[in-house]
Amino acid sequence: MESLHENKKHKNLNIQKCGIIGCGAVGATSAHTLLGSGLFSEMVLIDINHKKAEGEAMDIGHGAPFVKPVNIYAGDYPDLSDAYLVIVTAGANQMPGETRIDLAEKNVKIFKQIIPEIVKYNKDCILLIVSNPVDILTSVALKLSGFEPGRVIGSGTVLDTGRFKYLLGEHLGVDSRNVHALIIGEHGDSEVAVYSSANISGVDLDEFCQTCNKCIDHHSMRRIYEDVKNSAYEIIERKGATFYAIARVVKRIAQALIRDENAILTVSSLVDGHYGLYDVCLGLPSVVGQNGVKQIIDTPLDDDELKQLTDSAMKLKEVLDSLDF
Ligand SMILES: NC(=O)c1ccc[n+]([C@@H]2O[C@H](COP(=O)([O-])OP(=O)(O)OC[C@H]3O[C@@H](n4cnc5c(N)ncnc54)[C@H](O)[C@@H]3O)[C@@H](O)[C@H]2O)c1
Repeated sequence: MESLHENKKHKNLNIQKCGIIGCGAVGATSAHTLLGSGLFSEMVLIDINHKKAEGEAMDIGHGAPFVKPVNIYAGDYPDLSDAYLVIVTAGANQMPGETRIDLAEKNVKIFKQIIPEIVKYNKDCILLIVSNPVDILTSVALKLSGFEPGRVIGSGTVLDTGRFKYLLGEHLGVDSRNVHALIIGEHGDSEVAVYSSANISGVDLDEFCQTCNKCIDHHSMRRIYEDVKNSAYEIIERKGATFYAIARVVKRIAQALIRDENAILTVSSLVDGHYGLYDVCLGLPSVVGQNGVKQIIDTPLDDDELKQLTDSAMKLKEVLDSLDF
């Protein structure tokens, strides 16, 4: 098999270069986290407010001597011509009480400006969509870019899956890294907790509870799901925005891409046939490597979870049908 690294070189892309469009709370925190990761040697920050991008590039860049050398600067779309990864975090954020879907119309308008500009200068990069509603905007970016589906990836339910593992780990008194449990579907109000296959290092939840005396009954399962689903509302009500954990998610996805890890992450990408769903982007466990999403994994679901996933997809499709892009 041709090495993916050679493939990228052939296309004149610099695997150690990324662009971030949108330097608000999420974009700037992601840039800061990525700088600390050592994954990139060149980072371009683009924002409609160029001064903000300049200020963030200066402030974040001044930390480089304490990590690894990185050329980080405020730029413009032509600077993306050889970037392997372009991360889009531009657009309106939720106000207290607002749902992610409420942002769709505003942010589709912004994507209609941004995506063609990226494609004008770079037709070979991976697009990582973070702006909300992320599943809708991943579908929009896929259509506007004309890229093959595996190269347009949304952060999907990677963050929600992290929140689920964290809360289950807290409840059961185990390291969240030993919790294997997924949130799939929309990154939003119709997301689905896959309890049927959730396990602690291979031991299913019921069995695990018998050994540790930490009961996980229907009531606590429901509460943990609601807490995961409502995390962003709770955080936004207290501090106005969420940005630290999503920045770690951006870094985790970038790492899987650059290092060709074949990591399984619940990113959002085009679903075409899995679970009888077609033509919609949503979060499912997917193999992520240097060319993007290589494969979606058909994780087992019980009847209720399958119904919830189908409803989530239908909801996203309805929103997509109502939008002009
Ligand atoms: N996927 C997730 O899990 C997740 C998590 C948190 C936030 N988000 C989303 O990320 C997005 C950004 O959130 P934030 O808190 O950083 O918002 P923010 O308001 O702090 O930043 C948005 C930035 O986008 C810029 N921008 C707006 N229009 C632009 C354009 N046409 N071109 C370039 N830049 C433009 C703004 O100038 C601003 O700097 C929101 O949609 C938010 O809902 C997603």
